[in-house]
Amino acid sequence: MNIVIVGTQWGDEGKGKVIDILSEKVDVVVRYQGGNNAGHTVVVDGAEYIFHLIPSGILHKGKVCCIGNGVVVDPEVLLQEIAGLERAGIRPARRLKISDLAHLILPYHRILDQLREMKRTHKIGTTNRGIGPCYADKINRCGIRMVDLLNSRVFADKLKDNLREKNEIFRKVYGHPGFDFNKIYRQYMGYAAKLSGYVCNTALLLDEAVNRGKDILFEGAQGTFLDIDFGTYPFVTSSSTVSGGAAVGTGVSPDKIDKVIGVAKAYTTRVGEGPFPTEFPARFGTFMRDKGSEFGATTGRPRRCGWFDSVMVREAVMINGITDLAVMKLDILDGLKSIKICVAYKYKGKVFREFPHDASVINGAVPVYKEVPGWRGAVAGVAKFNGLPANARSYISRLQDLLGTKMSIISVGCARKDTIFL
Ligand code: IMO
Ligand code: MG
Repeated sequence: MNIVIVGTQWGDEGKGKVIDILSEKVDVVVRYQGGNNAGHTVVVDGAEYIFHLIPSGILHKGKVCCIGNGVVVDPEVLLQEIAGLERAGIRPARRLKISDLAHLILPYHRILDQLREMKRTHKIGTTNRGIGPCYADKINRCGIRMVDLLNSRVFADKLKDNLREKNEIFRKVYGHPGFDFNKIYRQYMGYAAKLSGYVCNTALLLDEAVNRGKDILFEGAQGTFLDIDFGTYPFVTSSSTVSGGAAVGTGVSPDKIDKVIGVAKAYTTRVGEGPFPTEFPARFGTFMRDKGSEFGATTGRPRRCGWFDSVMVREAVMINGITDLAVMKLDILDGLKSIKICVAYKYKGKVFREFPHDASVINGAVPVYKEVPGWRGAVAGVAKFNGLPANARSYISRLQDLLGTKMSIISVGCARKDTIFL
C-alpha cells in the first residue's frame, strides 16, 4: 500500500512521529516537497532526532529513503545531516537516494530570503533557508538541479548565467556586494564529490519498487495551510504541500497512491506570520506553549498556539482526500477545565462554515466555538482508546463527527509507545 502523510494545519502537526511509526511497515520513504524549512522530530529510546531533509524513515534499518524531485536541497545541510546520522551509528550510505531533478539551494537564495524578508512591510516570517527564492528560480527556469551539479561544465555555465543577473540585482536593489563565482563553484564541486553517490533517477527507482509490489510512504512537509495554492497566501511556503504534490514531487503517478493520512495536532499551532483565527490570548498562549514545548524544530522560534479549528481541518480533509486522521499531542490538553473547538467563523454578521479565501474575512474572522469539558489525569501511557478518560474520548468523537473522517491514530506522548491505534 502506498500512503501519503500530509499535515492538515500550519505544519508541526507531528508528521515525524507518524512517519517513523509507519516506516516500519513500508519499504521506501520519500520526501516530495519543501526543503530544510521542515523540522521533523522523532524520539526513539529517549533520544531525539530532528530531520530537515532526510526522510524520518531512515531510523529504520533497511528502509530506502528518497529525496524526491519536488524537494529543494541545500547540500551543506544535507551533508551535515548525513554526518549527524553517522555519528549516531546510522549509516545512510546505501539507503539514501537523491533525485537528480531536485533543485539546489545556493548561497544567493539564502541571502535573498533574508534580504527580502527584511525589506517587506508585511513579513512572512520565513525560515530564512532560501526555500522561496529557490522555488522561484525553478519556476523561472533558471534553477540549478542535482544533475547539473554533477556535470561541472553545465554547473559552471548555469552559475555564471545566474550570477550575471543576480549580482546586479543584489547590488542595485539590496546594496549587497553580490557573490563570487569561484568561491561558490569550488564549494559546490566539493559537495558534488560527496553527494554524487546518492544521486539517481528516483522516479525510476520508485517505479521499480511499485512494480515489485513494495510499499511506499510519501512524507509531506509543512501543512495544508502553508500550501502555495490552498494556504493562507501569501503567508505560506513555496511548494505544493497537499497530497497532490506527492505525485508531482516524486514522479509516481496518482493512480499508484492508495491512501492519504492526515496529521492534526489536538489543538493548533503556527510559526511565522499570518492569520490564525483560533489563536489563544497571550497569557494562555504562553502557558500552552510551555506545556506543549511549542518551539520551532528548525528555527527555535516560539510557536503561536490556539484551539482546534475544524473549519480548517475539514477543508484539509477535502483537498487532500484524507480518509484517516492521526491526532497528535492529546496529552497537552490534560488538566484543562474545558476545551474549545472552532466549528465556524463569523465575520460582519455572516457565518462561514467553509474556509474563506478573502484575506479580510480570514483576518477578521471571529471563531464560533463548541465548548466541551476537559479531563482530569494524564492520558500518557494509555494504550487503548477505551482506556482514555470519558471526556477525552468524547473530544475525539466530536472531532471525528465534525471532520467526517475516522481517527486511526491518537498520540498521547512523544515516544513510539505513547500511541493508540484504532
Ligand atoms: P514542518 O515540515 C511549520 C513556515 C514558516 C513561514 C512560512 C514560509 O516541520 O511542519 P519558508 O521558509 O518555507 O519560506 O517559510 O512557512 N514553515 C513552517 N512552519 N513547520 C514547517 O515545517 C514549516 N516550514 C515552513 O514559519 O511562516
Ligand atoms: Mg516541524
